[in-house]
Amino acid sequence: MSNRGNFSGRIGFILAAAGSAVGLGNIWRFPYLAGQNGGAVFLFFYLICIFLLCYPVMVGEIAIGRAANSDAYGSYKKLGGKGWGLLGLYGILAGILILSFYNVVAGWAFGYFLQISFGNLLHQQDFGPYFGAFVNDIFDLSSLQGFANSNLLFSILFMVATAVIVSKGIQKGIEAANKIMMPGLYLILIGIIIYSLTLPNAMSGVKFYLIPDFSELRWTTILDGLKQAFFSLSLGMGCLITYGSYLKKDDNISKSAAIISVADTSVAFLSGMMVFPLVHFLQYKLQVDNVATAGPPLIFIVLPQIFSEMGPVLGRIVGGSFFLLVCFAALTSTISLLEVPVAYFVDTMKYNRTRVVWGLAAGIFILGIPCMVSQGMVPALNQLDFYRGQDWLSFIADMCDIMLTTGGCLMCIFISRTWKIENMHSEISSSEPNYSTSFLKKYLTFTIMWVAPVLLGVLSILVIIEKFWGLENVF
Ligand code: PHE
Repeated sequence: MSNRGNFSGRIGFILAAAGSAVGLGNIWRFPYLAGQNGGAVFLFFYLICIFLLCYPVMVGEIAIGRAANSDAYGSYKKLGGKGWGLLGLYGILAGILILSFYNVVAGWAFGYFLQISFGNLLHQQDFGPYFGAFVNDIFDLSSLQGFANSNLLFSILFMVATAVIVSKGIQKGIEAANKIMMPGLYLILIGIIIYSLTLPNAMSGVKFYLIPDFSELRWTTILDGLKQAFFSLSLGMGCLITYGSYLKKDDNISKSAAIISVADTSVAFLSGMMVFPLVHFLQYKLQVDNVATAGPPLIFIVLPQIFSEMGPVLGRIVGGSFFLLVCFAALTSTISLLEVPVAYFVDTMKYNRTRVVWGLAAGIFILGIPCMVSQGMVPALNQLDFYRGQDWLSFIADMCDIMLTTGGCLMCIFISRTWKIENMHSEISSSEPNYSTSFLKKYLTFTIMWVAPVLLGVLSILVIIEKFWGLENVF
């Protein structure tokens, strides 16, 4: 086991796990979900989900990994027997599926970064059709312009960057990359927020975001909040089991988990503080009441339009920095997603790390191609009959959400019924002498044994109904 690698210490682990958590989920998905779910109300439920459900699950997940000192499959198998190993495989599969679609969206962000910084994207008249053509045309390499637009190429490059980092191992690859990108990410984010708050009408955006209007509350607000919280904290699929297995025995689990949760939540919160003032600035410029902020195109259609309003120089600087921020966030997550199956093949199957990394990167990239062409190029994948007319990328993304919440639910059942909560407590207290008499211990026992499995189970079922049939058609 000694050659598995370790984080150099608590800071390395926290940065890497926070890097995994902070990703497209925070900067791309959180603001648009908040936008379509009434802003502040969504934020309110999101925070409840983080502290009530997600934090205890995170502590449990890290404790499993550190106690077993193995990959997701190996950890469940070691602590609970072969049958539970299947839950590890379910998580590994979820990781592979997430990476397959995540890399496609990361490729778009990378393309936008290059196009805004060095190309002429900001000269577009209409950003909606531009985005449509961009995601549709995946390999028009016939001209230089076409080459610069090929999002097939962008996502290949993104996967290669991910694989290069992961192939270097835990300390030299994952930890080192996060030590550069995470501080960079915070700096860019804060810089853009400060700038966006100085724009006309910025305060109206802040109000929309911060003052809840409970009449906006819907069932979907709660479901979206929960799914988003789980996805955003990288829970339920063994990512933190894997990272936790590289954590040293004397590092503090409960504090690390608290810092990771706060770091992730703060980036999601700050992304909203960056996006909504920008959106309301655009409303002011265009003299309209509401620019559509709902849905995935928010950062690819609405934001570029805002950057182009800032003029050629400033637009390029602010817009380029924004998409660099998105790329950093995505890359620190894709490396954690790739590490989960890599750890399985290295620890359990005893394969060579470098070969596994490149083999998996290639395979997962290919798995993502249907997602890439589902945005218009292949009509059959653009409108799935069995999935209420939605596209393949949304289908895979939604299935992953379901895999995470069900995986989290089963993990809590595993801890309380099979591994036993006392073993989790003793793993945590081995590096925290005061833990055994703390309130935290009682809180974690209660949430992991009762609250989290029940709520996650019920909510998973509701999400499945919502996705396939629509909640309004069933209830
Ligand atoms: N947490 C990442 C994000 O917010 C996505 C992710 C999910 C990464 C699961 C790893 C595991 O974008």
